[in-house]
Parts: sequence; structure tokens; C-alpha cells
Amino acid sequence: MTQNPVLIAQISDLHIKPPGRLAYGRVDTAVALERCVAALNEFRPRPDLVVISGDLADTPTVEEYDYLKRLLAPLELPFVSIPGNHDLREMMRAALPQGYASSTGALNQRVEVGGLDLVLLDSSVHGKPHGALDAPTLQWLEATLASSGDRPALLFLHHPPFKAGIWHMDRQNLANAGELAPVIRRHPRVQLIATGHIHRVTLTMFAGVPTTICPAPNHAVDLDLEQLREPSFKVEPPAFHLHCWFPGEGFGSVVTHQVQIGNFDGPHPFFGPDGKLL
Ligand SMILES: [Fe+2]
Repeated sequence: MTQNPVLIAQISDLHIKPPGRLAYGRVDTAVALERCVAALNEFRPRPDLVVISGDLADTPTVEEYDYLKRLLAPLELPFVSIPGNHDLREMMRAALPQGYASSTGALNQRVEVGGLDLVLLDSSVHGKPHGALDAPTLQWLEATLASSGDRPALLFLHHPPFKAGIWHMDRQNLANAGELAPVIRRHPRVQLIATGHIHRVTLTMFAGVPTTICPAPNHAVDLDLEQLREPSFKVEPPAFHLHCWFPGEGFGSVVTHQVQIGNFDGPHPFFGPDGKLL
């Protein structure tokens, strides 16, 4: 008998401003989140969990987190979140109390979903745009991954542990990726590393593991691979990621889909009532 996959939706980089304010004077991130929440609610089959991978607020302020919670209230799915560089740990801990591994410091947590471990890492560094995993986080990660040898695990953190080729973002990725890599290599049950921060889809391998960047519901960092322009963004088609874990031999398999947010023509059938291709 085939088991149903476990479906983890990932949304990232919401950048919620106070009501009525536009991000960079141009992007209505609140409307973008409303559209994203509607798309998540409509998606079938229903995802088991939503992971929000950082930059939930923008400045950040208590008002922004209050507004974020109001915008997320219509979401009909359970969600967990990790901070990005636009968040503030203690403000986020107060606004979104979750099962954090520690009552102080980094907002790390482990969540079990149907035979799958989700390991959520706080890579934020107070007052800085770049990311880093502090020593307690690395120790907690090692112990958490060592707690099981056979359950597959997906890792989530805001900052990509690799250079994407976009010059101004590569200066603010995960600064101590070199300390993360050996931990990953010691634990082959890690099947995916899922990040955010750059607002655009990116795929690579890190420490032998497929590693992704999730698109955003609002704007994307401009794909400038030759330092042709000042740091810029573009309002590109919004999307989220759907990570599907299919149980099976060994650690099973993980497939990541990009789901566009919007109303599109279809779905239309390939075949007519006679069973022939239309
Ligand atoms: Fe970020």
C-alpha cells in the first residue's frame, strides 16, 4: 500500500510593514501575504504544516508582528516560523510563542510531522544582515540530529549556506556555513536544507544535500550576476514551495515543487470522454 506523502509548505520573507506602509515605498507586502494565505487555504491536498522561513516583519516592531498575526489569522493550516535578519528574536518569541528548544537565545525547534523531523534553525545575528549559527545552536543541532538514526530530517534556516552569485546578497549569507557542513555530513538522515532570504528560487548542493531557496509572495531580489546594478528588486510572479516527503526505502524521497500564487487558466483535461487525447 502506498502511504500518502507528508506535505510541508514553505513561505518566506513576508516583510510585513505597519498597516498602510509599502516596503521600499513600492511593494504592498500585506496584500501579497493575503494572496499567499488564500492560495495555501485553497491548495489540495492540504499541506500538513506551513514553515515560514524568516523575515516575517520588516523593521521590526511590535506593531508589525501584530499586523502579521492579523494577516495570518485566516490561515487554515498549522504553521511554525524561524527568524530572519529583519526579525528580532525576543519580539518574535513574544509574538509567536512556539515550542522553542530553549527559553532564551536562538529560536530553534524540532517539529515531528508523520515520521519526518523538521529541524528549524535560527540563523539571525542581532543587528546584522548576514546570518550565523551560534555555538549553542550548532550543539543543539548535533544533539537533535543524533537523537535518531533513521528518521529523515529536513533543515530550515533563513540564510543560505552558499553563494548564489548575486553580489550584494553573497555578502550577507550564512557566514559560518563551514561549521554547518561537517554536522550535516555526520548525519545522512538530512534530506533537504531549505532557506530563504533572496526571495527567488535557487537550487544547489551543500554538504552533499540538496539545498533550496524559497521564492517570496511579494518581490524578488534582482538576478544580477555581474554587479551591473545597485542592489535592486523586481516584482516577479509570487510563489511558495511545497516539499513532499514520500515514505519509502531508506529515508524515502523528497521532491520540492514551486507553486505559483495567482489565478491561472485551468486545470483542463487532457482526455475527452472517449478516453482519447483532446
Ligand atoms: Fe533576509
